[in-house]
Amino acid sequence: MLQGQRIVIIGGSSGIGLETARGALAQGAEIVIASRSEDKLRKAKEKLGAKVETYQLDTTQEQQVKSFFDTIGSFDHLVVTAAATSGGGFLETDTAKVRELFENKFWGQYYAAKYGAPKLSPNGSITLFAGVVAYKAMVGSSALGAVNAAVASLGQTLALELAPLRVNVVSPGIIDTPSRIGMPEEARRSFYEGVASKLPVKRVGRAEDVAHSVLYLLQNGFVTGTVLHVEGGHLLT
Ligand SMILES: NC(=O)c1ccc[n+]([C@@H]2O[C@H](COP(=O)([O-])OP(=O)(O)OC[C@H]3O[C@@H](n4cnc5c(N)ncnc54)[C@H](OP(=O)(O)O)[C@@H]3O)[C@@H](O)[C@H]2O)c1
Repeated sequence: MLQGQRIVIIGGSSGIGLETARGALAQGAEIVIASRSEDKLRKAKEKLGAKVETYQLDTTQEQQVKSFFDTIGSFDHLVVTAAATSGGGFLETDTAKVRELFENKFWGQYYAAKYGAPKLSPNGSITLFAGVVAYKAMVGSSALGAVNAAVASLGQTLALELAPLRVNVVSPGIIDTPSRIGMPEEARRSFYEGVASKLPVKRVGRAEDVAHSVLYLLQNGFVTGTVLHVEGGHLLT
């Protein structure tokens, strides 16, 4: 159980992070969430309850990440769902956009692990986030696949270097979260229907499906260095 454990969720104002916060709170954990948008943090706090601590933080800014961990003090588990991702054809995409993606999804998690680890309880854990396109090539996802593979590799090496702290990586499949809110509704629905029809489970994922796996990783003291695929059988297709 997570009763009394202090859990920091960077990216906890939306999607998988928000559901993880909800699930951990239900088990009696103390929750700190952080992300860039004050508005999203305020809305998340309204949903989660006044006891949740919120911090504005941009993980691409190394100094901000360092001061964030200096400010919040010690805690038991770190979960980093923070990411703003993008895709596009390899030849057509500006390299600046790809660098931005790495700044956000790779370096953000790298800084969080680097500055968060010294403040974590030795019995605690870090959970990082990769994604299915690292393992299942998809047209238009060359950079995202590479960044996800980099995060997975980072997590596995950190499981050795930071031991006895446990470090795991979750690799979600296609999950219906606000991450695709910028997509026109019709295109989003048809994308989800197309994916669902090919998956053994015949549906795309929900944020709760992935949050469930994060809560398992936080609680099972015998699991470290794993990449947990939560993707409805996507890798079998
Ligand atoms: N949804 C999927 O289909 C899917 C598939 C594969 C992998 N994943 C991975 O799963 C993780 C969670 O995704 P999700 O679907 O839950 O996304 P989401 O709903 O868009 O949530 C992402 C969260 O990250 C925060 N964030 C983004 N950039 C940040 C930054 N630089 N600094 C601090 N916070 C930042 C966002 O809040 P602010 O905007 O306030 O910063 C938001 O709270 C991500 O790593 C994502 O790549 C998702």
